[in-house]
Amino acid sequence: MSTTIITGATSGLGLATTRLLASQRPEESFIITSRKLASAQKVANAFTNMTPMALDVSDPDSIKQFTENVKKQNVLISGIIANAGAQFTKPTTNKQGVEATFATNVIGQYRLVTSMQPLLSSDAKVILVSSDTHDRHKFTGMPNPQYLAPATLADEPKSSAEMKHSSDTNLGQIRYTTSKLAVIYLVHALVKHDPKHTYISFNPGLMPGKDSGLARNYAPAAK
Ligand SMILES: NC(=O)c1ccc[n+]([C@@H]2O[C@H](COP(=O)([O-])OP(=O)(O)OC[C@H]3O[C@@H](n4cnc5c(N)ncnc54)[C@H](OP(=O)(O)O)[C@@H]3O)[C@@H](O)[C@H]2O)c1
Repeated sequence: MSTTIITGATSGLGLATTRLLASQRPEESFIITSRKLASAQKVANAFTNMTPMALDVSDPDSIKQFTENVKKQNVLISGIIANAGAQFTKPTTNKQGVEATFATNVIGQYRLVTSMQPLLSSDAKVILVSSDTHDRHKFTGMPNPQYLAPATLADEPKSSAEMKHSSDTNLGQIRYTTSKLAVIYLVHALVKHDPKHTYISFNPGLMPGKDSGLARNYAPAAK
């Protein structure tokens, strides 16, 4: 049976994609994730072809545990929709001290996808969700990316000192748009290093409104 993993399946794009795919493809199975197992369980309860699992992509230990849990399912993975993403309006790091936007949107996607590579079917498609905001030639209302060496992007104080910004919120937005540029670079690297599978970056376009939680930390007017 064909199995697809969808990360960040509890709100916004991930939730809509999960509901659509699972109802249109009842013969396929889905592994859906949230940082809170109970939240994924709540979504999965409405379907018979869905297994909920806990996953925090910013935490390498959580990715390790998730990989073990997927292996126990004894399935081949035919698709990954690496949709989980985050934006922060205050300086934030993960448990290991890595800047949280980079840890979630870039390193987390890399770790997740490479952990799953041995379990992918030969025709597997891996989709990493990117964003228009990576492109300085498009008007998105977001600041341009300021790409730096990955080691600097991972270092919260160092990247804060190097990125020209006007406030914590503005810096968080720059980190976000930069992370989405890094996702494009990551997809190029995955294509180069794993020609056996298909890697795609998917830009959903602007999705404003209450269904997206991406601006959950913004001031009320900016939301
Ligand atoms: N909204 C837009 O206009 C827009 C535009 C272009 C691209 N995008 C991209 O589209 C994707 C989905 O965005 P959205 O608007 O649907 O956002 P959203 O409503 O905030 O959903 C993001 C999902 O990611 C999960 N998540 C956040 N941090 C995580 C972590 N550390 N580990 C695992 N899961 C995590 C959340 O799940 P839990 O809280 O349940 O863990 C949530 O379900 C993101 O990659 C975003 O960058 C959004």
